[in-house]
Amino acid sequence: MDIERLSTGISSLDKMLAGGIPRGFCIAITGEPGTGKTILCIHFIAQGIKEGDKCIYVTTEESRESIINQAKQFKFDFDKSIKEDKLIIIDALMGLEDKWSLKSLTVEDLVEKIIEAKKALGYGRARVVIDSLSAFWLDKPSMARRYSYYVKKVLAKWDFTIFVTSQYAITTSESFGWGIEHIADGIIRFRRIVKGGVLKRYILIEKMRQTPHSLKMHEINIEDGKGLVILGPAGEEEKEEFLLSKGIKK
Ligand SMILES: Nc1ncnc2c1ncn2[C@@H]1O[C@H](COP(=O)(O)OP(=O)(O)OP(=O)(O)O)[C@@H](O)[C@H]1O
Ligand SMILES: [Mg+2]
Repeated sequence: MDIERLSTGISSLDKMLAGGIPRGFCIAITGEPGTGKTILCIHFIAQGIKEGDKCIYVTTEESRESIINQAKQFKFDFDKSIKEDKLIIIDALMGLEDKWSLKSLTVEDLVEKIIEAKKALGYGRARVVIDSLSAFWLDKPSMARRYSYYVKKVLAKWDFTIFVTSQYAITTSESFGWGIEHIADGIIRFRRIVKGGVLKRYILIEKMRQTPHSLKMHEINIEDGKGLVILGPAGEEEKEEFLLSKGIKK
């Protein structure tokens, strides 16, 4: 039987994924600052809203307002979706007093709040973004694996397909905290280089269980009014550059 796959909201990325993200998967979105992690998550949620999925976005790096404003630049009206009970944005940054804020950055509170939000949105296929999950082990990186496992295990029972973002240590290009990559069913990795004085960004599917996915690193662009666009496979020269800069091992 064919696996049900969820569209990421970016059709060329869906093609690279042999149709999309398998339902119920937990995907790690990793990469250096400003490479497109949050913007990919916004597309994933916007697509969920379009398809009638219950959508939840947990933000720890930016305020709820900031996510709404970023989405607006790509013509997604998250305010409207919130009003229509299609989307809940859980703010874990601002320490707000409202119902959909996290008072503490603990995984127990996080999971409890996400389940509460799912109950409020109702039955059915759901999408959740945790941007970032690494914020929950900032002072204890050795807990990364256990926390990721806990989040995945509990949320799996609630019909969620999960995107979690995770930062990379800029100095070493190593994932911050270890373990999440092994727990995740898939890894979508963003990269950046400066070439000819210009910032270039790339996307690579490093892992996707049960999926004959593309193995090619693709250059991306982030366009005002549109969002993340896949430009095409990166050239040989650029790929070499990554190997040399020890970002991608082996
Ligand atoms: N309206 C826009 N038009 C063009 N580019 C934009 C626009 N909005 C954001 N960007 C680009 O997207 C980048 C931010 O991407 P994003 O927020 O997805 O990064 P990130 O990988 O989540 O980073 P971090 O780890 O810091 O959260 C900006 O630095 C900018 O280059
Ligand atoms: Mg971000």
